[in-house]
Amino acid sequence: MGQVHVLDHPLIQHKLTYIRNKDTGTKEFRALVQEVSMLMAYEITRNLPLVETEVDTPVARARTNVIAGKTLALVPVLRAGLGMLDGILNLIPTAKVGHVGLYRDPETLQPVEYYCKLPANVEERDVIVVDPMLATGGSASAALTAVKARGAKQPKLMCLVAVPEGIRTVQQDHEDVDIYTAAVDDYLNDHGYIVPGLGDAGDRLFGTK
Ligand code: URA
Repeated sequence: MGQVHVLDHPLIQHKLTYIRNKDTGTKEFRALVQEVSMLMAYEITRNLPLVETEVDTPVARARTNVIAGKTLALVPVLRAGLGMLDGILNLIPTAKVGHVGLYRDPETLQPVEYYCKLPANVEERDVIVVDPMLATGGSASAALTAVKARGAKQPKLMCLVAVPEGIRTVQQDHEDVDIYTAAVDDYLNDHGYIVPGLGDAGDRLFGTK
């Protein structure tokens, strides 16, 4: 069973409070989401494997380490996942980026993939699927299915706020996936919003309604 990691670094928790505040405007909201995403990326990449190398410093040859293997692949789920991307890229500028687009079928209410483009050799990369709100879990689960179908092995899921329903769905559908979130909130209301949550992440990021 994949694990749920609640990233409770004080800076993450502090900034999340301002993200939640309904009076935080688009510009500040966007900046804060990026800052939190960068801090979360720092925590998520904590256990990346290293490989020894050598480098010449101005003084001597040093035995040192670099991250092993191919660069990470970040896969934001359109559209709100885009809001977390630049923050992560600030920390890992060499990461490759894929995209998954999903819409909800009006009859079945199930997520349907309309777009998926991933970096080459995705099967050799650590893949992080990025979606800020883990609500029903339907779209996160579908995005994980989409990246796995194209070869991603044991992708991670990064979100800002999750609810137990969404966590259950992802864990049921994807036993191998670790979930990283800044908070686990109380429940989903009848309109599909996380309570207390932060409202509609996409609308707040892009200033739409
Ligand atoms: N998506 C959002 O943007 N917000 C929620 O509260 C739930 C899903």
